[in-house]
Amino acid sequence: MNDLLEMPALSPQQTTELLQLAQTIKQRPTAWSTYLQGKSIALLFEKPSLRTRASFAAGIHRLGGHSIYLDAQNLIGEREPATDVGANLALWHDAIVARVYSQSTLSDLASASDKPVVNALSDTCHPCQALADLLTLQEQLGDLRQVHLTFIGDGNNVCQALMAGAARTGMHMQVVTPEGYAPDAELTAAAQQQAAQTGGSISVLHDLTQLQSTDAIYTDTWLSMGQSRDNNSVMHDFAPYQVNSDLMKRLGAKYFMHCLPAYRGREVTAEVIDSSQSLVLQQAENRLHAQNAILVKLFEGAQA
Ligand code: CP
Ligand code: NVA
Repeated sequence: MNDLLEMPALSPQQTTELLQLAQTIKQRPTAWSTYLQGKSIALLFEKPSLRTRASFAAGIHRLGGHSIYLDAQNLIGEREPATDVGANLALWHDAIVARVYSQSTLSDLASASDKPVVNALSDTCHPCQALADLLTLQEQLGDLRQVHLTFIGDGNNVCQALMAGAARTGMHMQVVTPEGYAPDAELTAAAQQQAAQTGGSISVLHDLTQLQSTDAIYTDTWLSMGQSRDNNSVMHDFAPYQVNSDLMKRLGAKYFMHCLPAYRGREVTAEVIDSSQSLVLQQAENRLHAQNAILVKLFEGAQA
């Protein structure tokens, strides 16, 4: 593994190995406490973050490394191209973790940097989130090949990363979105092809009445960072897709999941997200362990 720019870049085997490693790191955190000794990692963020920024900083510290946070809100583009940013950061740092508006910024950073680049959220993918979520589902439900997950809401970055993750681990995932908000057709087709090989399945629907029973329901904000959508139309289009107690009961869902930040009363009711069925804090905790597994894998070659 040289970079982690998107979830589909991982093979099924790499995905499973990362999940196993994340579980081991979670159980024996001190075993890797000097792994990144002497290493420095740049956290480059064009958009706000709580979980990703704080969990990477804490996780890198636990591995014995050092991180710096760079507010890149006005750094890439007009001021200087992403390739110059990547080439410069690689002179002083051993890896770049980047949250960007556009996936192409990540490719530019990686093309100019001879150090690993990790996607900390882009417009199309959130691989660190998806790995933490798969780890959470595995902890709660065991063998992912038996897990049925429903994603309801906006089919963008988080949904697309989860689809790719589900396809790689043989999970069964149904996605339901309003018309016009479905995940990218090419990414969906690729995930469906991959799922056919791992024994999983991916379906994309718009009609809520077609949903099958499920182990867990996952949703995300209706208004992602950096989107210039008309608020009124978004609220109108998404209103029937709220996760509430009725939907949880109707689908027989045991668990509720959300990447956070969440907007109570919009995509999910407070009753559901604040209930004992909610896994949101376990997902957030697992961000650190999943990300540390990614960092360990990225530096594996360098340690040998
Ligand atoms: N889920 C997630 O990535 O949270 P932040 O935006 O707070 O990093
Ligand atoms: N879809 C959301 C995820 C935040 C973690 C966004 O892009 O803002």
